[in-house]
Amino acid sequence: MIQVAILGFGTVGSGVAEVLEMNQKEIARGAGEALCLKYILDTRVFPDSPFRDRLIHDFSVVESDPEVKIVAECIGGVGVAYDFVTRCLKAGKHVVTSNKEMVAKYGDVLLKIAQEQGVNFLFEASVGGGIPILRPLMSCLTANRIEEICGILNGTTNYILTKMIDDGEEFDTVLKQAQEMGYAERDPSADVDGHDACRKICILADLVYGVHVDPDQVATVGIRNISVETVAFADIAKMRIKLLARVFPREDGKLAVFVAPHFVPAKNQLAHVDDVFNAVQVRGNAVGETLFYGRGAGKLPTASAVVGDMIDAAVHLDKRRDLSWSSAQENYLADVRDIPLVWFVNVSDGEDAVRAALPEARILGRDSDSCGFLTGPMALSELEKCGLHRIEQYPVLSD
Ligand code: HSE
Repeated sequence: MIQVAILGFGTVGSGVAEVLEMNQKEIARGAGEALCLKYILDTRVFPDSPFRDRLIHDFSVVESDPEVKIVAECIGGVGVAYDFVTRCLKAGKHVVTSNKEMVAKYGDVLLKIAQEQGVNFLFEASVGGGIPILRPLMSCLTANRIEEICGILNGTTNYILTKMIDDGEEFDTVLKQAQEMGYAERDPSADVDGHDACRKICILADLVYGVHVDPDQVATVGIRNISVETVAFADIAKMRIKLLARVFPREDGKLAVFVAPHFVPAKNQLAHVDDVFNAVQVRGNAVGETLFYGRGAGKLPTASAVVGDMIDAAVHLDKRRDLSWSSAQENYLADVRDIPLVWFVNVSDGEDAVRAALPEARILGRDSDSCGFLTGPMALSELEKCGLHRIEQYPVLSD
């Protein structure tokens, strides 16, 4: 029997406890022996919880108990969680986490500590919640040169965009509804401004390309400014708007990493990933295109991935999985303003002005105040010089 602990008894932490209890038999079969939940650390009390006998409030109890071999960090953020994870690793414990903010910011540092201590630091749940994506990238797809990863990595924004498209509602109205239904946070900026998706694409980039990508250096545009006019133009173009996070290597060896709303052609499967679902498209030079789809958030889907990592840590208690990436390098990221992309643009100019400035533009239509069109492939830096009065602009994903 292997003793384990959970740090944080919120949505994810309580889901982890539930899965450990609910699927004991399956977990024991996967791990080779039973996982026994010894402690749950939280500052709060939960008098009605069936797990109340395991609750503790002092982290040092976990840290100093040599019986506890595996710790699941479910606190979130980069404050106390980072401190506790560092201390658990230094105490020789394997750590698993769903904390994308911490992994995106400090993954290289934590993996180095884990390497020095000969323990595992695993974080499958940090990207795509319950969707298996990191492990396939680290094992099944390692025979490939990965040409691109492109994902819908945030459920809240995908839900909001789906409602805007299907019901023709404004962003603010749908956000308010999503907050009332508990789908969106009261402070929604991490989701709607694209930071959450940015952290997740950074983790994927780190893993696949082996160098730490600092989320603060990644061009990130969220969904706040998407208008109902733009949603209607996408429909005319037989496309749907999706917040995509993308990474691909450039010919000069630099890495293009960015997050932005995209026009996605209906022919592309990502156009049909709706509501809170996430999906990650991975293109490898041998395998071609693959698609990973599922629930990117939620109590049990996220716990499924966290407990999967606990089982993996149990199987590798005395053997470290070879996993690390080097620290951030200068000039490693491409300037996304120089990458040729097809653009949807909405301008306050008339059709004639658009045709004069960009003869190859495909006009989608105009209303009284604006004209929407698609460009040929061009860099954003060129588009900025075209002399038109741009209201909104979003890249278009190829079929
Ligand atoms: N807020 C995130 C989302 C939760 O909406 O996808 C999972 O990281």
